Amino acid sequence: MYLWLKTFHLVFVIAWMAVLFYLPRILVNIAEGGDEPAVRARLLLMGRRLARFGHVMFGLLFVLGFAMWAMLGFKGAWMHAKLTLVALLLAYGVMIGRWLKAAEAGYALPTAKALRWVNELPLLALVPIIWLVLAKPF
Ligand code: HEM
Repeated sequence: MYLWLKTFHLVFVIAWMAVLFYLPRILVNIAEGGDEPAVRARLLLMGRRLARFGHVMFGLLFVLGFAMWAMLGFKGAWMHAKLTLVALLLAYGVMIGRWLKAAEAGYALPTAKALRWVNELPLLALVPIIWLVLAKPF
């Protein structure tokens, strides 16, 4: 049972990370080529759908992760470290979601070059998260 929870936790984690890595790519495209109204509208639609999918994936991974942590007795300092990093990833998701809404409202986005750098930020949390859950160092 626990292994099934973990399997689906990881499936939803992978789907959520795909959203965190791909939504900024859509923002790059809006920043670069969004002057054509039909192209811009299509990119905004893709972004909105992707963001909605991300909400569902995060909800599911959270419920399963929380259930597993409850089964482990809410123990493990590594888990607190991991959750801190997860909170950072979530804040990142909220930030890019707000940028999408701002673009929809007609505000200018950061430059495409800046967005490409922003796109790499989730890695800074993802690498230590994976290491923490595998090594459980404390
Ligand atoms: C949001 C709240 C989350 C909670 C409460 C949570 C909780 C947990 C728990 C309890 C485990 C099982 C650990 C074990 O049995 O050894 C686990 C496994 C794992 N989690 Fe999460 N998690 C959350 C979010 C995330 C996120 C956002 C990621 C990645 C970005 C992630 C990546 C992983 C990985 C890679 C494993 C597999 C560890 C292993 O192979 O044992 N989790 N999680």
